[in-house]
Amino acid sequence: MSDHLIPQVLAGKVAAVTGGVRGIGARCVARLAAAGARVAIVDRAPDEGMPSHDHLARCDVAEEAAVVAAFAGIAEALGPIDILVNGAGLTVRAPALDMRAADFTHVISVNLTGAFLCAREAARQMRGRGGAIVSIASVMGLSGGLFPNVAYQSSKGGLVNLTRALAVEWAPLGIRVNAVAPTYVETDLTRGLLADPVATGRIIDATPMRRLATLEEVADAVLFLVGPGAAMTTGHTLPVDGGFLAV
Ligand SMILES: NC(=O)c1ccc[n+]([C@@H]2O[C@H](COP(=O)([O-])OP(=O)(O)OC[C@H]3O[C@@H](n4cnc5c(N)ncnc54)[C@H](O)[C@@H]3O)[C@@H](O)[C@H]2O)c1
Repeated sequence: MSDHLIPQVLAGKVAAVTGGVRGIGARCVARLAAAGARVAIVDRAPDEGMPSHDHLARCDVAEEAAVVAAFAGIAEALGPIDILVNGAGLTVRAPALDMRAADFTHVISVNLTGAFLCAREAARQMRGRGGAIVSIASVMGLSGGLFPNVAYQSSKGGLVNLTRALAVEWAPLGIRVNAVAPTYVETDLTRGLLADPVATGRIIDATPMRRLATLEEVADAVLFLVGPGAAMTTGHTLPVDGGFLAV
């Protein structure tokens, strides 16, 4: 559906999207804005080509002090946050036998610790008012994966259970916490892998719907989970995977 046809279900809401400069995060920024939210981007990337937004907080999500300052800045600029999308993520691919501890830790600190820190800062603003948090996990958080990517798979598995733990702890605060688990989408993160026709063929063969996901399909799942239609849904990880995990 094109952005101008999206119902204004998020009118009056303030949203923050980490990793919102590029890829899936950028598509979520556009979708949430189309649904009426005012949207802040939290990212460390140069801002070239990023979607239109209401506030930019430049920050590395793995740096606690920077995250605290970034979220305080969003509240000052737009008011307290109602919606958080944890999109910032990266990987370092290597066979597990060759994986350096520093690389493993780096992936965990951005994909898992970073998501926790941003959720904590957002929840401090949601406390007493309610809110919704959605993290971009992955089918790699719910399976051993097709290719060696052990740090990423560990971080996304952690993110799935972080989602459950925060959902339980924050339900009394009126804060819903969910995740989406996309299969492969073509972005800067996956461009190198998907350029290999053998790798892409393996993904297609493992996917009952025999294609990759689109940015819109992931952003639409996020929009559902942060919106009023998911009012009774928390602690859930929603695959957007063409049946990859159903096999
Ligand atoms: N592309 C896929 O196939 C796929 C599939 C499943 C899940 N995901 C997840 O979706 C999310 C977005 O990935 P993408 O494919 O759009 O990647 P991408 O590389 O296109 O975008 C990632 C964004 O996160 C930002 N970012 C990275 N590290 C950061 C940090 N430390 N602090 C702040 N910002 C940081 C980048 O600057 C960039 O804007 C990630 O969490 C990724 O793991 C991607």
